[in-house]
Amino acid sequence: MSLDITNVVKSYRQGSEKLTILKDLNLKVETGEVVAIVGASGSGKSTFLSLVAGLDSYDSGEITINNQRLSGLTKKQMTHFRAETIGFVFQQFHLISHLTAFENLALPLQILDRQYDDQFILQELENVGLRSRAEHKPTEMSGGECQRLALARALITKPSLLLADEPSGNLDSETGQKVMSLFFAQVRKTKTTTLLVTHDLELAKMCDRKLILKQGQLCD
Ligand SMILES: Nc1ncnc2c1ncn2[C@@H]1O[C@H](COP(=O)(O)OP(=O)(O)O)[C@@H](O)[C@H]1O
Ligand SMILES: [Mg+2]
Repeated sequence: MSLDITNVVKSYRQGSEKLTILKDLNLKVETGEVVAIVGASGSGKSTFLSLVAGLDSYDSGEITINNQRLSGLTKKQMTHFRAETIGFVFQQFHLISHLTAFENLALPLQILDRQYDDQFILQELENVGLRSRAEHKPTEMSGGECQRLALARALITKPSLLLADEPSGNLDSETGQKVMSLFFAQVRKTKTTTLLVTHDLELAKMCDRKLILKQGQLCD
């Protein structure tokens, strides 16, 4: 796995004004490294993750994942590359509400046309303590259970890179702690390279490295 970000600039247009959010941002991440990204609200953390996920484009510079320059991909190629390479955990779980936990977990594999058997999905549910929830829909599950399911879904394709945007931000502190302890256990077990955006300095301490996003750049 390799992630290499060089001189990335990102701006938004607001009427006649140009708002530059990221200014010559650089980052290099090693395989298996778990990097915390902290920073004030509005500093551009979510914008940054959306660029790495290829969900939004940058003005200049380059993001290279596994030797693939993201700017060199068409939208369709990017969609496939993202599905193969990147897992995402959001603050708002973004589960599919009309699908069961089992179906939510199987979906990324179906999208990639990967073979799987039911036993595999059930085992992955078991790994996040949700074996008994297989037939439940997200609306029938607690916030903590939903986020554990979202974590399992993000990792089920064995992504090279996991992006997490304040994954405990929508949970009470006790539930958040439990979910994040599972998060770290799963990420370490699977040796998944991870960028974790968080407000929680205790969580940031559990990472290999902590970077602060300020004035458009990542600083130590
Ligand atoms: N689609 C957009 N259009 C215009 N401005 C945006 C857009 N998305 C984010 N911004 C602005 O970019 C800045 C950074 O936002 P964001 O990345 O969400 O910050 P953070 O996640 O660190 O709180 C904010 O000032 C926000 O208003
Ligand atoms: Mg944000």
